[in-house]
Amino acid sequence: MNLNVDFKKINDMVMKNLPEREGLQATVLNAMHEAVDAGGKRIRPILMYETYMYFCKKYSHEPEEEIIGKFMAGMEIMHTASLIHDDLPCMDNDRLRRGKPTTWVVYGVDMATLSGDAMMIQTFSTMSEAAMQMRDPKAGLKAVNVMGVKAGIFGMTGGQVVDVENTGRPLSREQLDFIYRLKTGALLEASMMIGAILAGADDDDVTAVEKIAGDIGMAFQIRDDVLDEISTDEKLGKPVHSDKEEGKTTFVTLYGIDKANEEVARCSAEAIGLLEKMGGDNRTLIEITRALIDRDN
Ligand code: IPE
Ligand code: IPE
Ligand code: MG
Ligand code: MG
Ligand code: MG
Repeated sequence: MNLNVDFKKINDMVMKNLPEREGLQATVLNAMHEAVDAGGKRIRPILMYETYMYFCKKYSHEPEEEIIGKFMAGMEIMHTASLIHDDLPCMDNDRLRRGKPTTWVVYGVDMATLSGDAMMIQTFSTMSEAAMQMRDPKAGLKAVNVMGVKAGIFGMTGGQVVDVENTGRPLSREQLDFIYRLKTGALLEASMMIGAILAGADDDDVTAVEKIAGDIGMAFQIRDDVLDEISTDEKLGKPVHSDKEEGKTTFVTLYGIDKANEEVARCSAEAIGLLEKMGGDNRTLIEITRALIDRDN
């Protein structure tokens, strides 16, 4: 994916806000660093940063780079933790992630479980520390609250619950939509909402970006299902045909690849239409949304 963003800068903002690897608990700190550093598209921090910059401009608000950097890192830590847990033998049972052996393969199921736990909590230490340093700590607190809601049982974790519980069972379109909106959509929504909130956006703007990110999230997960069918381990950095092996009902098993591609395009067009309606200079967000439609990893 070739995005018109400063990937190195965004990646550095994430990496420099990871906790130091020291102390007797270094095993889990090493696992945390390796899982985050292994790669990944960084799409959540990218969307958070670009949304932040867009609204800073719109509201004539001087960007606070140190603050947004900590929130971006917190988000990537949460996302990476969700992947560590998602790959566990008791969940999707996958051995390859971001082109490397999964955390449980390297460190064992016990340390991988604890790494995911530690990381999900680290997200809140990192974000709340940033919130306290803000010019407007109340906006920071609101952003931390969004993170909690969207990562928790009414967001990503809730989606994973319904996904895992129904593995091997047929699902209706409504159930599948519910899972996708939560397991994948919620963290993308939180990424853009947090970017908007920290830039001082009003409630109407925050609600608007939640809807846009929800559409991007739906497209993103359906594309993920398609890639599981048509890509290779090398290109994806994770095992293809994992869904079939685990007996997952996906958009592709329900409707086939052509319909899935159409739905990715439809949801993305919806998001782009809403972005265009917002006005101002959000070309980068539009370009990112467009580039995600036929991403190949
Ligand atoms: C994978 O997320 C899990 C899904 C929500 C589909 P990404 O496709 O963003 O994974 P990385 O971060 O690039 O590894
Ligand atoms: C995972 O969905 C979503 C989360 C980790 C929250 P998948 O199980 O489809 O993601 P991949 O394909 O393993 O990356
Ligand atoms: Mg899964
Ligand atoms: Mg998985
Ligand atoms: Mg998948």
